[in-house]
Amino acid sequence: MEETKAAVFVAPANENIFIRLVSTSSEVLQLQDEDSLVFHPEYTHQLFGENECIFGYKQPRVDLWYGASTLTTYFHFGYNEKGSEADLEGAQIDFVEDIIGDKLAPGYLNNKEEFLARLERETSFRPFGELVHVYTSNEDDRECPYEVYKGDILTPGLRDYHARLQTFILWFIDAASFIDVDDENWQFYFLFERKTVDGQPMYCIVGYATVYKYYAFPDKTRPRISQFLILPTFQRRGHGAQLLQIIYNQYVGDQRVLDITVEDPSDEFTGLRDYVDAGNCSRLSSFQPSAMKSGFSQEMALQAQKQLKINKQQARKVYEILRLRATDRSNPVEYKDYRLAVKRRLNKPFQKEQSDLKKLERVLNPDELAATIASTGLEERHQKLNTLYEITEQSYLRTVEKLASM
Ligand SMILES: CC(C)(COP(=O)(O)OP(=O)(O)OC[C@H]1O[C@@H](n2cnc3c(N)ncnc32)[C@H](O)[C@@H]1OP(=O)(O)O)[C@@H](O)C(=O)NCCC(=O)NCCS
Repeated sequence: MEETKAAVFVAPANENIFIRLVSTSSEVLQLQDEDSLVFHPEYTHQLFGENECIFGYKQPRVDLWYGASTLTTYFHFGYNEKGSEADLEGAQIDFVEDIIGDKLAPGYLNNKEEFLARLERETSFRPFGELVHVYTSNEDDRECPYEVYKGDILTPGLRDYHARLQTFILWFIDAASFIDVDDENWQFYFLFERKTVDGQPMYCIVGYATVYKYYAFPDKTRPRISQFLILPTFQRRGHGAQLLQIIYNQYVGDQRVLDITVEDPSDEFTGLRDYVDAGNCSRLSSFQPSAMKSGFSQEMALQAQKQLKINKQQARKVYEILRLRATDRSNPVEYKDYRLAVKRRLNKPFQKEQSDLKKLERVLNPDELAATIASTGLEERHQKLNTLYEITEQSYLRTVEKLASM
């Protein structure tokens, strides 16, 4: 009974946080009652605990609005009813503004009128850093321009801008953490849509990435992509692939760069990276279809590393994707060869255990050996390997299909 009473004051955090990027005050006023441009966080566990719930209110609602250019931030928290101490059975209420405000850059606004007035400044915003690339994307039969800027912590204005932008990663990258921007080895890439408003250019943020330049013995660097985000309203429109390629282009011609790595990539980023890397490798001579059946070669590893700065492990994965593309799956022999080659690689982590078992074979009697094999679950391992293979092939096929559509 008591439990039911408190339960009505628990609400899912993700669906009750409403994020919106706005360019002009008239846009806000027109859309005030509809949530068409709103998006919700994917993750809130870092703020609201494992269950991602706001506790203590009936129908809580957080509005988090950002100026699409300056990222001037407006925060508002409202609710239908706040639970009393008796309602909440003494449990700690969530002080929502403290929890979220702690992650927002200082200077966010609580006053909507002030926020709307500040939106007048959006058109005078200019991106920080050096313009490194411009591309267009066809949207509704219009060629829309996008620009990528690169900077570091010494770039004037970048620090504060990044502080406002990085709060997004908490909402969209699982286990994301803020970086220590004071380190000069960080490089920042910002992607903007360039609109024209009243004849003036207006730059709206689309996404960003941070790259840390690690040292690699003896005289090389190893850039590592750390954070990478395309804002939800711009996802699956090719911008991630553009931004990743632009970042690659910054380093591929640099003799001092050993390879480009990625810190703890999400599954989503892995899908993007596989597609971009496979497209790039498919243009290298060593990755041509005729070379596929002879296996992953040293030449492939070297060429991928030298020309594209792709490390050996990723080059091997790309090889498997491109070999699948070159495999006639209706030919049982060819397809079986392919599956075996991939399974052999997937099985490597288990091989050590198997070689230990072989050693045991020499010293144990048959009964003891059978018991050992049963306890190590070889049958189960076999099934796991098959499942792992199926998952791997499915994800490879998605990349192969995407490559075919280009
Ligand atoms: C992952 C992310 C950067 C991809 O950016 P994007 O602009 O949506 O990607 P693109 O439109 O350029 O995708 C190009 C291709 O990459 C692959 N790809 C992109 N996102 C993918 C995903 N979530 N799963 C599998 N493949 C994906 C697909 O082949 C895609 O083509 P398709 O959309 O026609 O299927 C973006 O979704 C994002 O920021 N996600 C949340 C944050 C995150 O996970 N960041 C990475 C942290 S390491």
